[in-house]
Amino acid sequence: MPLVYGALLGDHAEGRVSRVTLYDTDADRLTAVARVLAEQGRDVADAPAVVATTELDEALRGADFVFSAIRVGGLAGRAADERVALDEGVLGQETVGAGGIAYGLRTVPVALDLARRIARIAPQAWVINFTNPAGLVTEAMSRHLGDRVIGICDSPVGLGRRIARVLGADPDRAWIDYAGLNHLGWVQGLYVEGRDELPRLLADPQLLESFEEGRLFGAELLRSLGAIPNEYLHYYYVNREAVHAYQQAERTRGAFLQDQQEGFYARMREPGTPAWATWDRTRAEREATYMAENREVAGAGEREESDLESGGYEQVALALMRAVARNERTSLILNVRNRTTLPALDEDAVVEVPCLVDANGAHPVAVSPLPYHALGLVTAVKAVERAVLEAAESGSRAAAAQAFALHPLVDSVTVARRLLDRYTEVHPGLAYLDRA
Ligand code: G6P
Ligand code: MN
Repeated sequence: MPLVYGALLGDHAEGRVSRVTLYDTDADRLTAVARVLAEQGRDVADAPAVVATTELDEALRGADFVFSAIRVGGLAGRAADERVALDEGVLGQETVGAGGIAYGLRTVPVALDLARRIARIAPQAWVINFTNPAGLVTEAMSRHLGDRVIGICDSPVGLGRRIARVLGADPDRAWIDYAGLNHLGWVQGLYVEGRDELPRLLADPQLLESFEEGRLFGAELLRSLGAIPNEYLHYYYVNREAVHAYQQAERTRGAFLQDQQEGFYARMREPGTPAWATWDRTRAEREATYMAENREVAGAGEREESDLESGGYEQVALALMRAVARNERTSLILNVRNRTTLPALDEDAVVEVPCLVDANGAHPVAVSPLPYHALGLVTAVKAVERAVLEAAESGSRAAAAQAFALHPLVDSVTVARRLLDRYTEVHPGLAYLDRA
Protein backbone atom coordinates (compact mmCIF):
# COMPACT_ATOMS: atom_id res chain seq x y z
CA MET A 1 0.00 0.00 0.00
CA PRO A 2 2.77 2.52 0.77
CA LEU A 3 4.32 1.73 -2.62
CA VAL A 4 1.04 2.43 -4.41
CA TYR A 5 0.47 5.56 -2.35
CA GLY A 6 4.02 6.70 -3.19
CA ALA A 7 3.21 6.30 -6.89
CA LEU A 8 0.01 8.31 -6.44
CA LEU A 9 1.98 11.08 -4.72
CA GLY A 10 4.11 11.46 -7.84
CA ASP A 11 1.07 11.94 -10.07
CA HIS A 12 0.02 15.59 -10.32
CA ALA A 13 -1.92 15.43 -13.56
CA GLU A 14 -5.55 16.38 -13.86
CA GLY A 15 -7.88 13.54 -12.95
CA ARG A 16 -5.38 12.04 -10.54
CA VAL A 17 -6.52 10.03 -7.52
CA SER A 18 -7.59 12.47 -4.81
CA ARG A 19 -8.89 10.15 -2.11
CA VAL A 20 -7.72 6.80 -0.78
CA THR A 21 -9.74 4.61 1.55
CA LEU A 22 -7.79 1.97 3.46
CA TYR A 23 -9.72 -1.10 4.46
CA ASP A 24 -8.52 -3.90 6.71
CA THR A 25 -10.18 -6.40 9.02
CA ASP A 26 -7.51 -5.53 11.62
CA ALA A 27 -7.71 -2.01 13.09
CA ASP A 28 -4.17 -2.21 14.43
CA ARG A 29 -2.72 -2.81 11.00
CA LEU A 30 -4.82 0.01 9.58
CA THR A 31 -3.43 2.47 12.11
CA ALA A 32 0.14 1.43 11.33
CA VAL A 33 -0.24 1.73 7.57
CA ALA A 34 -2.12 5.02 7.87
CA ARG A 35 0.84 6.37 9.86
CA VAL A 36 3.25 5.38 7.08
CA LEU A 37 1.07 7.09 4.47
CA ALA A 38 0.74 10.22 6.58
CA GLU A 39 4.53 10.56 6.74
CA GLN A 40 4.86 9.93 3.02
CA GLY A 41 2.35 12.67 2.17
CA ARG A 42 3.47 15.19 4.78
CA ASP A 43 5.26 17.57 2.43
CA VAL A 44 3.19 16.96 -0.69
CA ALA A 45 0.68 19.77 -1.23
CA ASP A 46 -1.81 17.78 -3.31
CA ALA A 47 -1.41 14.46 -1.47
CA PRO A 48 -4.51 12.27 -1.81
CA ALA A 49 -6.62 12.32 1.36
CA VAL A 50 -6.51 9.09 3.33
CA VAL A 51 -9.34 7.62 5.38
CA ALA A 52 -9.35 4.24 7.09
CA THR A 53 -12.19 1.87 7.90
CA THR A 54 -12.88 -1.68 9.00
CA GLU A 55 -16.25 -1.62 7.19
CA LEU A 56 -15.95 -3.12 3.73
CA ASP A 57 -19.14 -1.63 2.30
CA GLU A 58 -18.11 1.83 3.46
CA ALA A 59 -14.74 1.39 1.74
CA LEU A 60 -16.35 0.21 -1.49
CA ARG A 61 -19.09 2.79 -1.83
CA GLY A 62 -18.38 5.18 -4.72
CA ALA A 63 -14.92 3.72 -5.43
CA ASP A 64 -13.53 4.07 -8.96
CA PHE A 65 -10.75 1.55 -8.32
CA VAL A 66 -10.53 -1.23 -5.80
CA PHE A 67 -7.11 -2.62 -4.93
CA SER A 68 -7.41 -6.07 -3.48
CA ALA A 69 -4.48 -7.57 -1.60
CA ILE A 70 -5.63 -10.00 1.06
CA ARG A 71 -4.00 -12.93 2.83
CA VAL A 72 -6.57 -15.44 3.99
CA GLY A 73 -5.24 -17.31 7.02
CA GLY A 74 -2.45 -14.76 7.46
CA LEU A 75 1.24 -15.55 7.27
CA ALA A 76 0.78 -18.35 9.80
CA GLY A 77 -1.45 -19.96 7.18
CA ARG A 78 1.26 -19.50 4.56
CA ALA A 79 3.83 -21.12 6.85
CA ALA A 80 1.48 -24.07 7.43
CA ASP A 81 0.97 -24.44 3.65
CA GLU A 82 4.72 -24.75 3.26
CA ARG A 83 5.33 -27.06 6.22
CA VAL A 84 2.67 -29.62 5.29
CA ALA A 85 3.90 -29.83 1.70
CA LEU A 86 7.59 -30.04 2.59
CA ASP A 87 6.85 -32.81 5.11
CA GLU A 88 5.33 -34.74 2.21
CA GLY A 89 8.39 -34.07 0.08
CA VAL A 90 6.69 -31.64 -2.30
CA LEU A 91 6.87 -27.89 -2.84
CA GLY A 92 4.94 -25.63 -0.49
CA GLN A 93 5.35 -22.27 -2.23
CA GLU A 94 2.38 -19.89 -1.86
CA THR A 95 1.55 -19.89 -5.58
CA VAL A 96 3.20 -22.99 -7.06
CA GLY A 97 2.42 -26.65 -6.41
CA ALA A 98 0.67 -28.06 -3.34
CA GLY A 99 1.11 -24.89 -1.27
CA GLY A 100 -0.49 -22.80 -3.99
CA ILE A 101 -3.45 -25.18 -4.14
CA ALA A 102 -3.98 -25.06 -0.37
CA TYR A 103 -3.74 -21.28 -0.41
CA GLY A 104 -6.07 -21.10 -3.41
CA LEU A 105 -8.64 -23.35 -1.69
CA ARG A 106 -8.66 -20.98 1.29
CA THR A 107 -8.62 -17.77 -0.69
CA VAL A 108 -11.06 -18.36 -3.54
CA PRO A 109 -14.23 -18.52 -1.38
CA VAL A 110 -13.26 -15.21 0.25
CA ALA A 111 -12.39 -13.65 -3.13
CA LEU A 112 -15.75 -14.77 -4.53
CA ASP A 113 -17.58 -13.11 -1.63
CA LEU A 114 -15.57 -9.98 -2.16
CA ALA A 115 -16.35 -9.96 -5.88
CA ARG A 116 -20.07 -10.36 -5.20
CA ARG A 117 -19.94 -7.48 -2.73
CA ILE A 118 -18.10 -5.26 -5.21
CA ALA A 119 -20.53 -6.14 -8.00
CA ARG A 120 -23.39 -5.06 -5.74
CA ILE A 121 -21.95 -1.99 -4.02
CA ALA A 122 -19.47 -0.61 -6.56
CA PRO A 123 -20.52 -2.05 -9.94
CA GLN A 124 -18.74 0.82 -11.70
CA ALA A 125 -15.37 0.08 -10.07
CA TRP A 126 -12.33 -1.44 -11.72
CA VAL A 127 -10.76 -4.06 -9.51
CA ILE A 128 -7.00 -4.52 -9.46
CA ASN A 129 -6.18 -7.85 -7.91
CA PHE A 130 -2.82 -8.32 -6.20
CA THR A 131 -3.94 -11.29 -4.12
CA ASN A 132 -2.03 -14.50 -4.74
CA PRO A 133 -2.34 -16.94 -6.35
CA ALA A 134 -3.04 -13.97 -8.63
CA GLY A 135 -4.16 -15.74 -11.81
CA LEU A 136 -6.50 -18.14 -10.02
CA VAL A 137 -7.97 -15.44 -7.77
CA THR A 138 -8.50 -13.10 -10.72
CA GLU A 139 -10.31 -15.86 -12.61
CA ALA A 140 -12.52 -16.54 -9.57
CA MET A 141 -13.42 -12.84 -9.27
CA SER A 142 -14.03 -12.52 -13.02
CA ARG A 143 -16.97 -14.89 -12.63
CA HIS A 144 -18.79 -12.00 -10.94
CA LEU A 145 -16.93 -8.98 -12.29
CA GLY A 146 -16.16 -9.99 -15.87
CA ASP A 147 -13.38 -7.91 -17.39
CA ARG A 148 -13.61 -5.34 -14.60
CA VAL A 149 -11.14 -7.34 -12.57
CA ILE A 150 -7.53 -7.27 -13.73
CA GLY A 151 -4.72 -9.19 -12.04
CA ILE A 152 -1.25 -7.73 -11.54
CA CYS A 153 2.13 -9.32 -10.96
CA ASP A 154 5.48 -7.59 -11.17
CA SER A 155 7.50 -10.68 -12.19
CA PRO A 156 6.92 -10.48 -15.97
CA VAL A 157 7.40 -6.72 -15.91
CA GLY A 158 10.67 -7.08 -14.02
CA LEU A 159 11.81 -9.84 -16.37
CA GLY A 160 11.04 -7.73 -19.46
CA ARG A 161 12.92 -4.77 -17.97
CA ARG A 162 15.95 -6.85 -17.06
CA ILE A 163 16.16 -8.36 -20.55
CA ALA A 164 15.75 -4.97 -22.21
CA ARG A 165 18.45 -3.52 -19.97
CA VAL A 166 21.07 -6.15 -20.77
CA LEU A 167 20.28 -5.74 -24.47
CA GLY A 168 20.80 -2.01 -24.18
CA ALA A 169 17.19 -1.30 -25.16
CA ASP A 170 14.77 1.19 -23.62
CA PRO A 171 12.35 -0.97 -21.59
CA ASP A 172 9.52 1.46 -22.24
CA ARG A 173 9.89 1.10 -26.00
CA ALA A 174 10.39 -2.65 -26.14
CA TRP A 175 7.55 -5.03 -26.96
CA ILE A 176 7.70 -8.18 -24.86
CA ASP A 177 6.32 -11.33 -26.45
CA TYR A 178 5.32 -13.03 -23.18
CA ALA A 179 2.62 -15.61 -22.52
CA GLY A 180 1.41 -18.13 -19.99
CA LEU A 181 -0.35 -18.10 -16.64
CA ASN A 182 0.67 -16.07 -13.60
CA HIS A 183 4.07 -17.30 -12.36
CA LEU A 184 4.14 -19.69 -15.33
CA GLY A 185 5.10 -17.70 -18.43
CA TRP A 186 7.89 -17.37 -20.97
CA VAL A 187 9.42 -14.48 -22.89
CA GLN A 188 9.70 -15.65 -26.49
CA GLY A 189 10.78 -12.39 -28.06
CA LEU A 190 11.68 -8.80 -27.31
CA TYR A 191 11.02 -6.40 -30.14
CA VAL A 192 12.64 -3.03 -30.58
CA GLU A 193 11.45 -1.11 -33.61
CA GLY A 194 10.07 -4.26 -35.14
CA ARG A 195 13.21 -6.35 -34.71
CA ASP A 196 13.41 -9.31 -32.33
CA GLU A 197 16.46 -8.82 -30.11
CA LEU A 198 16.06 -12.02 -28.08
CA PRO A 199 18.15 -14.19 -30.45
CA ARG A 200 21.07 -11.84 -29.80
CA LEU A 201 20.72 -12.51 -26.07
CA LEU A 202 20.34 -16.27 -26.49
CA ALA A 203 23.47 -16.38 -28.63
CA ASP A 204 25.61 -14.77 -25.92
CA PRO A 205 26.14 -16.95 -22.79
CA GLN A 206 27.88 -14.15 -20.94
CA LEU A 207 25.06 -11.70 -21.55
CA LEU A 208 22.58 -14.44 -20.65
CA GLU A 209 24.07 -14.92 -17.21
CA SER A 210 24.28 -11.22 -16.48
CA PHE A 211 20.75 -10.91 -15.05
CA GLU A 212 18.60 -12.61 -12.43
CA GLU A 213 16.71 -15.17 -14.53
CA GLY A 214 19.82 -15.92 -16.57
CA ARG A 215 21.76 -16.80 -13.43
CA LEU A 216 18.84 -18.73 -11.98
CA PHE A 217 18.37 -21.00 -15.00
CA GLY A 218 21.82 -20.94 -16.61
CA ALA A 219 22.65 -20.23 -20.25
CA GLU A 220 22.46 -23.87 -21.32
CA LEU A 221 18.82 -24.38 -20.31
CA LEU A 222 17.76 -21.00 -21.70
CA ARG A 223 19.38 -21.70 -25.06
CA SER A 224 17.74 -25.10 -25.27
CA LEU A 225 14.35 -23.55 -24.47
CA GLY A 226 14.85 -20.65 -26.87
CA ALA A 227 12.95 -18.51 -24.36
CA ILE A 228 13.39 -16.89 -20.95
CA PRO A 229 11.06 -18.35 -18.32
CA ASN A 230 9.50 -16.43 -15.46
CA GLU A 231 11.58 -16.86 -12.29
CA TYR A 232 8.85 -19.07 -10.77
CA LEU A 233 9.59 -21.74 -13.39
CA HIS A 234 12.69 -22.45 -11.34
CA TYR A 235 10.38 -24.39 -9.00
CA TYR A 236 9.50 -26.63 -11.97
CA TYR A 237 12.77 -26.99 -13.85
CA VAL A 238 14.87 -27.50 -10.71
CA ASN A 239 12.12 -28.86 -8.52
CA ARG A 240 13.94 -31.60 -6.63
CA GLU A 241 16.79 -29.34 -5.57
CA ALA A 242 14.43 -26.48 -4.70
CA VAL A 243 12.30 -28.75 -2.49
CA HIS A 244 15.45 -30.07 -0.83
CA ALA A 245 16.79 -26.57 -0.19
CA TYR A 246 13.49 -25.45 1.34
CA GLN A 247 13.40 -28.57 3.51
CA GLN A 248 16.87 -27.75 4.81
CA ALA A 249 16.10 -24.10 5.45
CA GLU A 250 15.88 -23.07 9.09
CA ARG A 251 12.55 -21.34 8.50
CA THR A 252 10.17 -21.32 5.56
CA ARG A 253 9.51 -18.06 3.73
CA GLY A 254 6.11 -17.80 5.40
CA ALA A 255 7.59 -18.31 8.88
CA PHE A 256 10.29 -15.73 8.20
CA LEU A 257 7.75 -13.18 6.96
CA GLN A 258 5.43 -13.91 9.88
CA ASP A 259 8.18 -12.99 12.36
CA GLN A 260 9.25 -10.03 10.28
CA GLN A 261 5.76 -8.57 9.94
CA GLU A 262 4.90 -9.17 13.60
CA GLY A 263 8.08 -7.29 14.51
CA PHE A 264 7.12 -4.42 12.23
CA TYR A 265 3.63 -4.04 13.68
CA ALA A 266 4.98 -4.32 17.23
CA ARG A 267 7.43 -1.47 16.56
CA MET A 268 4.66 0.56 15.02
CA ARG A 269 2.65 0.33 18.24
CA GLU A 270 5.40 2.19 20.08
CA PRO A 271 4.97 5.95 19.98
CA GLY A 272 7.85 7.77 18.31
CA THR A 273 8.70 4.99 15.85
CA PRO A 274 9.60 6.62 12.51
CA ALA A 275 6.86 5.09 10.39
CA TRP A 276 8.21 5.42 6.85
CA ALA A 277 11.80 4.50 7.70
CA THR A 278 10.67 1.44 9.68
CA TRP A 279 8.35 0.32 6.90
CA ASP A 280 10.95 0.86 4.17
CA ARG A 281 13.63 -1.06 6.08
CA THR A 282 11.19 -3.95 6.44
CA ARG A 283 10.40 -3.85 2.72
CA ALA A 284 14.10 -3.78 1.78
CA GLU A 285 14.81 -6.83 3.95
CA ARG A 286 11.90 -8.67 2.33
CA GLU A 287 13.22 -7.84 -1.14
CA ALA A 288 16.79 -8.87 -0.31
CA THR A 289 15.72 -12.32 0.90
CA TYR A 290 13.22 -12.98 -1.91
CA MET A 291 13.71 -16.47 -3.48
CA ALA A 292 16.95 -16.80 -1.55
CA GLU A 293 16.95 -20.61 -1.55
CA ASN A 294 16.40 -20.75 -5.30
CA ARG A 295 19.30 -18.41 -5.87
CA GLU A 296 21.42 -20.52 -3.57
CA VAL A 297 20.57 -23.74 -5.44
CA ALA A 298 21.50 -22.02 -8.70
CA GLY A 299 24.62 -20.36 -7.27
CA ALA A 300 23.12 -17.12 -8.52
CA GLY A 301 24.50 -14.91 -5.75
CA GLU A 302 22.85 -11.82 -4.35
CA ARG A 303 20.09 -9.85 -6.04
CA GLU A 304 21.08 -6.81 -8.03
CA GLU A 305 20.70 -3.32 -6.61
CA SER A 306 18.21 -2.37 -9.34
CA ASP A 307 16.03 -5.38 -8.47
CA LEU A 308 15.90 -4.37 -4.83
CA GLU A 309 14.34 -1.02 -5.58
CA SER A 310 10.62 -0.74 -5.71
CA GLY A 311 9.01 0.20 -9.00
CA GLY A 312 7.35 -3.00 -10.14
CA TYR A 313 3.89 -3.32 -8.70
CA GLU A 314 3.09 0.28 -8.06
CA GLN A 315 4.18 1.53 -11.47
CA VAL A 316 2.07 -1.12 -13.19
CA ALA A 317 -0.87 -0.25 -10.94
CA LEU A 318 -0.52 3.47 -11.61
CA ALA A 319 -0.09 3.01 -15.38
CA LEU A 320 -3.15 0.78 -15.41
CA MET A 321 -5.28 3.31 -13.52
CA ARG A 322 -4.14 6.20 -15.69
CA ALA A 323 -4.89 4.24 -18.85
CA VAL A 324 -8.39 3.36 -17.67
CA ALA A 325 -9.29 6.65 -15.98
CA ARG A 326 -7.76 9.05 -18.51
CA ASN A 327 -7.55 6.93 -21.62
CA GLU A 328 -3.75 7.18 -21.56
CA ARG A 329 -3.18 4.14 -23.74
CA THR A 330 -0.39 1.83 -22.77
CA SER A 331 0.68 -1.79 -23.01
CA LEU A 332 1.17 -3.90 -19.89
CA ILE A 333 1.49 -7.59 -19.09
CA LEU A 334 -1.63 -8.40 -17.08
CA ASN A 335 -3.84 -11.23 -15.91
CA VAL A 336 -7.03 -11.08 -17.95
CA ARG A 337 -9.53 -13.39 -19.61
CA ASN A 338 -7.98 -15.18 -22.55
CA ARG A 339 -10.51 -14.61 -25.33
CA THR A 340 -8.55 -16.29 -28.17
CA THR A 341 -4.99 -15.37 -27.20
CA LEU A 342 -3.93 -18.90 -26.23
CA PRO A 343 -6.07 -21.10 -28.48
CA ALA A 344 -5.62 -24.20 -26.28
CA LEU A 345 -7.51 -22.50 -23.43
CA ASP A 346 -11.13 -21.40 -23.38
CA GLU A 347 -12.15 -17.75 -23.57
CA ASP A 348 -12.78 -17.29 -19.86
CA ALA A 349 -9.49 -18.75 -18.67
CA VAL A 350 -7.43 -16.02 -17.05
CA VAL A 351 -3.98 -15.86 -18.63
CA GLU A 352 -0.96 -13.57 -18.22
CA VAL A 353 -0.25 -11.81 -21.52
CA PRO A 354 0.57 -8.37 -22.92
CA CYS A 355 -2.50 -6.16 -23.11
CA LEU A 356 -3.37 -2.82 -24.62
CA VAL A 357 -5.07 -0.80 -21.93
CA ASP A 358 -7.38 2.15 -22.46
CA ALA A 359 -10.59 3.58 -21.03
CA ASN A 360 -12.40 0.40 -22.04
CA GLY A 361 -10.10 -1.83 -20.02
CA ALA A 362 -7.35 -4.32 -20.84
CA HIS A 363 -7.37 -6.02 -24.23
CA PRO A 364 -5.02 -8.99 -24.70
CA VAL A 365 -3.00 -8.92 -27.89
CA ALA A 366 -1.60 -11.65 -30.10
CA VAL A 367 1.48 -13.52 -28.85
CA SER A 368 3.64 -16.26 -30.34
CA PRO A 369 2.14 -19.71 -29.83
CA LEU A 370 3.63 -21.53 -26.87
CA PRO A 371 5.77 -24.58 -27.66
CA TYR A 372 4.38 -27.95 -26.50
CA HIS A 373 6.49 -28.16 -23.33
CA ALA A 374 5.14 -24.81 -22.14
CA LEU A 375 1.61 -25.49 -23.31
CA GLY A 376 1.68 -28.78 -21.43
CA LEU A 377 2.44 -27.05 -18.15
CA VAL A 378 -0.04 -24.25 -18.82
CA THR A 379 -2.94 -26.58 -19.61
CA ALA A 380 -2.11 -28.92 -16.71
CA VAL A 381 -2.00 -26.04 -14.23
CA LYS A 382 -5.17 -24.50 -15.65
CA ALA A 383 -6.88 -27.86 -15.06
CA VAL A 384 -5.67 -27.70 -11.45
CA GLU A 385 -7.03 -24.16 -11.10
CA ARG A 386 -10.38 -25.25 -12.48
CA ALA A 387 -10.54 -28.06 -9.92
CA VAL A 388 -9.82 -25.53 -7.15
CA LEU A 389 -12.57 -23.23 -8.47
CA GLU A 390 -15.01 -26.13 -8.59
CA ALA A 391 -14.11 -27.18 -5.05
CA ALA A 392 -14.49 -23.61 -3.78
CA GLU A 393 -17.85 -23.12 -5.45
CA SER A 394 -19.40 -26.49 -4.62
CA GLY A 395 -17.54 -27.57 -1.48
CA SER A 396 -16.59 -30.78 -3.26
CA ARG A 397 -13.78 -32.58 -1.48
CA ALA A 398 -13.32 -34.79 -4.53
CA ALA A 399 -12.60 -31.73 -6.66
CA ALA A 400 -10.06 -30.52 -4.08
CA ALA A 401 -8.37 -33.92 -4.08
CA GLN A 402 -8.27 -33.82 -7.86
CA ALA A 403 -6.56 -30.40 -7.78
CA PHE A 404 -3.66 -31.84 -5.76
CA ALA A 405 -3.52 -35.06 -7.77
CA LEU A 406 -3.40 -33.32 -11.16
CA HIS A 407 -0.59 -30.95 -10.32
CA PRO A 408 2.65 -31.72 -12.20
CA LEU A 409 4.64 -31.10 -8.99
CA VAL A 410 2.63 -33.59 -6.90
CA ASP A 411 3.97 -36.92 -8.04
CA SER A 412 1.52 -39.35 -6.46
CA VAL A 413 -2.23 -39.58 -5.94
CA THR A 414 -1.57 -41.06 -2.50
CA VAL A 415 0.48 -38.01 -1.56
CA ALA A 416 -2.30 -35.79 -2.96
CA ARG A 417 -4.89 -37.43 -0.67
CA ARG A 418 -2.64 -37.09 2.36
CA LEU A 419 -1.98 -33.45 1.54
CA LEU A 420 -5.69 -32.71 1.45
CA ASP A 421 -6.21 -34.52 4.75
CA ARG A 422 -3.38 -32.67 6.45
CA TYR A 423 -4.41 -29.29 5.07
CA THR A 424 -7.99 -29.71 6.21
CA GLU A 425 -6.68 -30.65 9.67
CA VAL A 426 -4.55 -27.53 10.05
CA HIS A 427 -6.71 -24.94 8.26
CA PRO A 428 -10.11 -24.08 9.76
CA GLY A 429 -10.72 -22.13 6.54
CA LEU A 430 -11.00 -25.43 4.65
CA ALA A 431 -13.86 -26.81 6.75
CA TYR A 432 -16.26 -26.07 3.89
CA LEU A 433 -14.73 -28.97 1.95
CA ASP A 434 -16.72 -31.45 3.99
CA ARG A 435 -19.94 -30.26 2.43
CA ALA A 436 -19.97 -32.63 -0.52
C1 G6P B 1 6.99 -11.17 -6.28
C2 G6P B 1 5.86 -12.04 -6.75
C3 G6P B 1 4.62 -11.80 -5.92
C4 G6P B 1 4.92 -11.93 -4.45
C5 G6P B 1 6.06 -11.00 -4.08
C6 G6P B 1 6.46 -11.10 -2.63
O1 G6P B 1 6.73 -9.84 -6.58
O2 G6P B 1 5.56 -11.84 -8.10
O3 G6P B 1 3.60 -12.66 -6.33
O4 G6P B 1 3.78 -11.62 -3.71
O5 G6P B 1 7.17 -11.27 -4.87
O6 G6P B 1 7.00 -12.35 -2.32
P1 G6P B 1 7.27 -12.73 -0.80
O7 G6P B 1 7.88 -14.08 -0.81
O8 G6P B 1 8.13 -11.67 -0.25
O9 G6P B 1 5.90 -12.73 -0.13
MN1 MN C 1 3.43 -12.36 -8.50
